[in-house]
Amino acid sequence: GAATLALAGGALAGCALVPGSVTSVDEAEFTTELAIPPLAPSKVVDGTRIFSLTAQEGVTEFRPGVETRTWGFDGSYLGPTLRAERGERVAVEVANDLDEPTSVHWHGMHLPAAMDGGPHQEVGPGATWRPTWEIDQPAATLWYHPHPHGATEKHVYRGLAGLFLLDDDASRAATLPHTYGVDDVPVIVQDKVLDDDGQLELSDDGGEPGTLGDVVMTNGTVGAYQEVTTERVRLRLLNGSTARTFQLGFADREMDLVATDGGLLDAPVRLDHVRLAPGERAEVVVQLQPGETTRLHSFEADLGGVVVPFAMGANDAFDVLELRAADQLAPSPEPAWEPSAHAAQDALHEDDAAVTRTFELDDRKINGRRMDMGRIDEVVTEGSTEIWEVRSTVPMPHSFHVHDVQLRVLSVDGDAPPPELAGPKDTVYLEPNRTYRLLMRFDDYTDPDVPYMYHCHMLLHEDEGMMGQFVVVGPGQEAGTPPGHEPPS
Ligand code: C2O
Ligand code: CU
Repeated sequence: GAATLALAGGALAGCALVPGSVTSVDEAEFTTELAIPPLAPSKVVDGTRIFSLTAQEGVTEFRPGVETRTWGFDGSYLGPTLRAERGERVAVEVANDLDEPTSVHWHGMHLPAAMDGGPHQEVGPGATWRPTWEIDQPAATLWYHPHPHGATEKHVYRGLAGLFLLDDDASRAATLPHTYGVDDVPVIVQDKVLDDDGQLELSDDGGEPGTLGDVVMTNGTVGAYQEVTTERVRLRLLNGSTARTFQLGFADREMDLVATDGGLLDAPVRLDHVRLAPGERAEVVVQLQPGETTRLHSFEADLGGVVVPFAMGANDAFDVLELRAADQLAPSPEPAWEPSAHAAQDALHEDDAAVTRTFELDDRKINGRRMDMGRIDEVVTEGSTEIWEVRSTVPMPHSFHVHDVQLRVLSVDGDAPPPELAGPKDTVYLEPNRTYRLLMRFDDYTDPDVPYMYHCHMLLHEDEGMMGQFVVVGPGQEAGTPPGHEPPS
């Protein structure tokens, strides 16, 4: 429906925010089968599982008969799903067939900074890049996308994104639906604006929080349905949008939340919906009866009493994906699992935290500064556990993402986090004017010169400078200088 703009008088002083221009979502027909991104082929050479990805231009029919120019990895839109096991060494041969530099960042991955694919690892047109690292983190639904400084919004919006699934002992033994594309279904949710010629349009009108599309798609399919042949289906939800936050669930049933960004919860949690800001993931298990149809829906936002002065899409409600159950459904057991053999190694302990840092986000800056590729903002010691206290100080939410780690939300304004924030996280929706205490540990990798990023995952905000850099150093070591960048004088 149409958005209402509830202006919080006074709260806006000094803050030039403009409401988003497109805030209502078209009703779709749900007559097209959901596209499932193919599993990426790989070969194992000398113990390393090697994938390849090529960023390229293409044409996609989001609407029948309308050719939209898009970008994709190894195809015209989105990219294949990479999949690897904890303990494996992987490498990815990344090639850039575009006319401009891009990069590929492994969102949620614990890996050396030089392999991270952030703004310091751009891949020029015609060039290739081959990061390699060992998978050493719990089973999870991670993803990959470009991260070229100042152009991430455009590259993701045009279609460069894909999933990177990790498996481990716990996920393999779990009674969770696990047949990829059948009862374990990737669902990349995105919104777009298509102009009169059917081309992707990014608004540059300064609207907050960026471009809100009126066309919603899952895995690039507008109005998709998925045939369900089992009693339970697992949906691996990714908010792959540049700006919009979704509240995903079903109007006629609850679902079991089984995993957040960085992997499985301690136990399933019954929920009616889960909020996902750009960059966040959730795995949910939904139960169906033979022959029935239901739709994954994005609900109007429950702002929890917080006054958001701009609708920012929060008032929109729309269907996202139709599930059609067959007349006969194969049995699926209740979701259950045992802790991983690595649980003790992975656990974060608040008592270990010796450092607390504070991050204040306004409309484009973090702690009063915009991103500078030559400036290291934070220096972290390898092996240390830290608490990051993060707050949006303006009447606008943000989506705070930290590279390299999976963190735990200790509290929100002093209260225990809600269930959807109780599992491993790398991206956290910040309700305005609330303090999120985040616990994280920086293990294994040091590099005084090459920084990791922390930033808002609303990609217009990121591109416009809402990002900072941290390096992880050995004890007593000092921060260096990012290669090719002079430190600011
Ligand atoms: Cu998903 Cu720094 O990004
Ligand atoms: Cu933001």
